[in-house]
Amino acid sequence: MSVLHVTAECYPAAKVGGLADVVGAVPKYLSGADVIMPKYGTAWFRNQTTETIFKNTFWFPGQTIEFSIQTLTSTDLGFTLFVVDIPSKFDRDGVYSDANGFFADDDERWLCFQRAVLIWLSSSNLPYTVLHVHDHHTGLIPFMIKYSYDYSNLQSLKTVLTIHNLAYQGAFGWDRQYLLAAFDNWKSGLLDWDHHINPLASAIRCADWVTTVSPSYLEELKEDAGGLEWLFNSEQHKCSGILNGIDTTIWDRATDKYLAKPQTTSLDQFKLDNKIELCKQLNVKPSNCIVSFIGRMVEQKGADVLAYAAHQILQTQSDVNIVILGTGDPYLEDQFKILKEQYPGLTGITLAYDESLAHQIYAGSDFLIMPSRHEPCGLNQLYSMRYGTIPIVHNTGGLIDSVKDYKTSGGTGIKLKELSVKSVIDGIKEAAAIYKDSKLFNQLRENCIAEDFSWEASSKKYQYIYESLND
Ligand code: GLC
Repeated sequence: MSVLHVTAECYPAAKVGGLADVVGAVPKYLSGADVIMPKYGTAWFRNQTTETIFKNTFWFPGQTIEFSIQTLTSTDLGFTLFVVDIPSKFDRDGVYSDANGFFADDDERWLCFQRAVLIWLSSSNLPYTVLHVHDHHTGLIPFMIKYSYDYSNLQSLKTVLTIHNLAYQGAFGWDRQYLLAAFDNWKSGLLDWDHHINPLASAIRCADWVTTVSPSYLEELKEDAGGLEWLFNSEQHKCSGILNGIDTTIWDRATDKYLAKPQTTSLDQFKLDNKIELCKQLNVKPSNCIVSFIGRMVEQKGADVLAYAAHQILQTQSDVNIVILGTGDPYLEDQFKILKEQYPGLTGITLAYDESLAHQIYAGSDFLIMPSRHEPCGLNQLYSMRYGTIPIVHNTGGLIDSVKDYKTSGGTGIKLKELSVKSVIDGIKEAAAIYKDSKLFNQLRENCIAEDFSWEASSKKYQYIYESLND
């Protein structure tokens, strides 16, 4: 049995969010799993040597698309990474956007990518028995395999969809149905949701199995999925929630190449050394309790609530430092810029994507806050626990499944029952109090690092699904 993951992102080749981390890690734990993704015009790809293994063209409205499939010859990722080179659609400096903003031709880009993958598979004799697609960018593959005439020799391939984030569904108008390879029109209902072609909804219906990235997220989607909840109920016989893991070879306190001071002795020493480094770098006081946020500055992540709460906390308390790393909504970025100007010395605000600083923040902080409105799984709480940083989370989605309330035995974090400015303020105050109670604080840190979020267990659950589908 052999699996091909089809994805828009894969770490370290291209990362915008957690999707990349997951797809860059799972194949290492499954035998016979490969990955295929678009070849972007980004620096990482420019530094790779590739070998072309397949070339072809297809007709796309008004143009002939030339593409090639390449393998990377110089990089050892622990699995084979194939890239689809479609210069006219992907040779740009970004995955979904560049310095000029989001790409306007996204529907066309993802359709070209998916069709190129299917042409390659249907014209080659490859060992794959399962195609594992991720999110809406690859969501039309299950439909096209079953109902597009061009790929009818792929019909026996099984498909698995993993939903990393339901908030993005990739819907576009029926006036653009010509973007898909010609299909059996009797089946067009399987593409439709709310009078649009909806790639994610179509994949939920057409894939042989559907997973969400945590069990609690799946339960939430049955109640509230922005209109798709009915679909989760009607398809629940083929849905399961599998909690994400983390790549413990990358997230290793002793060997992490991004850390100023990897762990050589005790956890205490590791935390202290890295906190001092972080404070030097960000120019904040090491004696204070550091509460950090890493992530996209969007409402889904609760960055708006955090910005207001941080203002109020810093007005009244001088024993807390707020550290922020991320980019996003310009309005929210401005809120954090103001925070930085108003509270120098108490804030370390970096409006950028910086993988290296992120690792240093996980290692050097005392707490990591995730006030997400919705969180399909969340990886940051897993990274932070692995590095002995106590999470403060809104009790939603994967945060329910991965963080244990600190008031219970073996507890690992602070859980906010609701999401409001007040609850975030209370959570940060609770953190500042725990920080002063060194016995409890150290115990929680120890509990955090004792948790096992490696892919070993979760990857077996995927393996089981692949095997059952092929029985
Ligand atoms: C998305 C989700 C996040 C999840 C990640 C990986 O980024 O928002 O919760 O952890 O995908 O599955």
